[in-house]
Amino acid sequence: RSAQELIRPQLPAELTEKRAGCPFDPATGLTELSGHGHVHRIEHNGDTVWLVTGHDEARAVLAEPKMSSDRINSPRARRLISPELHAELFPPERRAGSFIFMDAPEHTRYRKLLTGQFTVRRMRDLAPRVIEIVTAQLDAMIEKGAPADLVHDFALPVPSLVICELLGVDYGDREEFQRRTSKLLSLNTTVDEQIKNTTELRRFMQTLVRAKQANPGDDLLSGLVRDTDLNEDELVGIANLLLIAGHETTANMLALGTFALLEHPEEFTKLREHPELIDNAVEELLRYLSIISMGVARHATEDVVIGGAIIKAGETVVVSVPAVNRDESQYDDPHELRIDRPRGHHVAFGHGIHQCLGQQLARVEMAVGFTELLRRLPTLKLAVPADEVPLRTDMSIYGVHSLPVTW
Ligand code: HEM
Repeated sequence: RSAQELIRPQLPAELTEKRAGCPFDPATGLTELSGHGHVHRIEHNGDTVWLVTGHDEARAVLAEPKMSSDRINSPRARRLISPELHAELFPPERRAGSFIFMDAPEHTRYRKLLTGQFTVRRMRDLAPRVIEIVTAQLDAMIEKGAPADLVHDFALPVPSLVICELLGVDYGDREEFQRRTSKLLSLNTTVDEQIKNTTELRRFMQTLVRAKQANPGDDLLSGLVRDTDLNEDELVGIANLLLIAGHETTANMLALGTFALLEHPEEFTKLREHPELIDNAVEELLRYLSIISMGVARHATEDVVIGGAIIKAGETVVVSVPAVNRDESQYDDPHELRIDRPRGHHVAFGHGIHQCLGQQLARVEMAVGFTELLRRLPTLKLAVPADEVPLRTDMSIYGVHSLPVTW
């Protein structure tokens, strides 16, 4: 098992992998389970996992201080990983700055420092750069000519280049940055290769941090160097976290979102004819696609009652984002994609203290990305039958491996 698998609670395949006849629907077993209550005790491979499928219960879990995000030190991880292997997989310098796995008050300190950098002003200043990046990527794709792979030519490079802006990666280093990040996401890597890629990426980030320390600019990383007392390991950890959290997620939303619009031609046309619906459409795509398909995991540090169930100290809880975002008590016809649906409170970006730090940026990337794609390529269509599009059914972030398109 990979390090990720060791710290991620496992659920049976029928609750995670298979989509019920439609590439955008949650696993068949998950939809059936959601019809029988909102908090479910699942026994699988010797593990007990509490699976939360209801909206109110999901928010209760994610807002609960007794629910820990420290997956690396969860009782489950401590049981499965020997102390020696634990020390090797998660040395302190690799944990530094990775605040997505931390609890208050440690998490609070980092979150405050980062919120101070994710300012309205910086996000506003980034918007024109996002437009330029999207436009340049579309120009290149159109120039190369149809057919194209929308994942390779558009969905992967756009968020990668936006993160370059955020971190202040020099133009000369961007190709290398993209090569390294795409390696990180590739499917056919062994655990050894994964460790090698991650180590090399850390080295790249270390060089970047040192460059910002020597010569700070206007970017977020320079802001952290200038305004905080974070040490080098912490800065490298934060840069890595922003990359890992912000790249694969946004890329899959762009690609799977385009696939969903192509498979719902009336919604595609509606959005093309009414571009003012874009903000609403982005929220609906986030809800409908719920790409964090394996859900968000926590473990209880004390006994907690959620939806009438007693979750014992040490037990694992998984909030199923796909099930929660299709909770029938929250949405009319939850399994339908309607870009003009009134906005609800989806949990695609999580909830509570760990709610996605990059959500405003992700929204800008998606709004600009979909708007420009539909405006520039109004005749966009799939270049292969829909059932030949390779789905990321086996990955923790759902989406497509490639999306062959023509226009
Ligand atoms: C946290 C989803 C884009 C940075 C999260 C969480 C979710 C999420 C569900 C909560 C995890 C938890 O509670 O354990 C998404 C989706 C995205 C996206 C669906 C794209 C559509 C981004 C971007 C960035 C980013 C663009 C930054 C550039 C982060 C960070 C956290 C986070 C740093 C950890 C926050 C914390 O622990 O306080 N994201 N994200 N995300 N996200 Fe995003």
